Amino acid sequence: MSLSSNLLFSVKPGGLLTGSVRVPGDKSISHRSIMLGSLAEGVTHVTGFLEGDDSLATLQAFRNMGVQIDGPEDGVVVIHGVGMHGLKQPELALDLGNSGTSMRLLSGLLAGQGFDTTLVGDTSLSSRPMRRVTDPLAQMGAQIVSTAAGSAPLQIKGGSKLSGIDYPMPVASAQVKSSLLLAGLYAEGITTVTEPAPTRDHTERMLNGFGYQVQRDGSRISLSGGGKLTACDIDVPADISSATFFLVGATIAPDSDLLLQHVGMNPTRDGVINILCLMGANIEVSNRRDVGGEPVADLRVRSATLKGIRIPEDQVPLAIDEFPAIFIAAACAEGETILTGAEELRVKESDRIQVMADGLVTLGIDAQSTEDGIRIQGGKLDGGEVDSHGDHRIAMSFAMAALRSSGVIRIRDCRNVDTSFPGFVSLASTSGLEITAEGEGI
Ligand code: S3P
Repeated sequence: MSLSSNLLFSVKPGGLLTGSVRVPGDKSISHRSIMLGSLAEGVTHVTGFLEGDDSLATLQAFRNMGVQIDGPEDGVVVIHGVGMHGLKQPELALDLGNSGTSMRLLSGLLAGQGFDTTLVGDTSLSSRPMRRVTDPLAQMGAQIVSTAAGSAPLQIKGGSKLSGIDYPMPVASAQVKSSLLLAGLYAEGITTVTEPAPTRDHTERMLNGFGYQVQRDGSRISLSGGGKLTACDIDVPADISSATFFLVGATIAPDSDLLLQHVGMNPTRDGVINILCLMGANIEVSNRRDVGGEPVADLRVRSATLKGIRIPEDQVPLAIDEFPAIFIAAACAEGETILTGAEELRVKESDRIQVMADGLVTLGIDAQSTEDGIRIQGGKLDGGEVDSHGDHRIAMSFAMAALRSSGVIRIRDCRNVDTSFPGFVSLASTSGLEITAEGEGI
């Protein structure tokens, strides 16, 4: 049992969310800023960096490979880039904690280095599928040894000569796409990845920002190996995935009126807004602007009566991290919500379909998991004790559910909330959630 089991959230029923908040920086963009900033020539300044355990694991990994990184201090990080071939062999295995993005993206990036590395993670990360990256990387010439089950630890042999491939991705995964593009930087010739559906494009945008050409032709994304990256400044927007808990909370809690500032609105990430609006949410988008190649806006959300819907399958990859919170919205909606085409949720930080279904049933909601989704009949939420299974997004979703429950909701195993949302308890309290954290480390 991990230490995280010891942290318990206890949330009083009722209340409403008001005021104006800026949630922490985008996790995906924070990871990539460290990776590309480290490989760039020159000094990269990052503001709004997410000081969560996942992005800090990436930061530490690059420090362990000899990169001087100052900060983070109040979200400011300064990366002294070492150039495409300046990384040094780390003395020990790189420990990536709970972070799938770190492990999958680093697999590609490290396959192109001249030295061996080993990547390890926590129990959850060590059980997640890695063949989705190691198989195509092997086609490029990488030598990576995983466990018999295809999971971490990953031992990456340095000095392999990589060649570009033309890879049709079997799953819509930005992590796989990004891993291959990062390996492609070191490969001879052109690396092309074809997406079965649009996935987050932060890697492509940021590579362009660092002066590296990435071509998109419909669903095909290509780059040529052998180029270089030039340092630049990055302003990380607030993470729409973290904003989601507040979007759902303010929607389900009567009389709420909340402003979320500076939220990343990349069109490959905004499925949650489309889905909540289809259900009847009242979300006003204002002050749209572009910040360093990423669209950003302020979101005003007011309570609304929701109705159950059949979630359009084309929205699934665009809202892939937001489903635990969307399921809470569905539990508070009138009628049935049906999700299909979302089997990927079973291999996230936990099996998010089963863990959410179990928790919702504990709270008195009729929820049935299916192979690739869930059916949720909106109803009345009771109080009760649920288990997040160490999954940050499940913990925060059930915390927001208390805004509409009839009794206290207690959530076990919440330590990993810090992987993506440090300060969640205090920010949620400031906005009106009556939440306390109990247990080890508090
Ligand atoms: C991420 C991609 C998504 C997402 C994860 C972060 C990224 O995973 O679930 O939290 O930063 O590229 P998949 O691309 O595997 O769906």
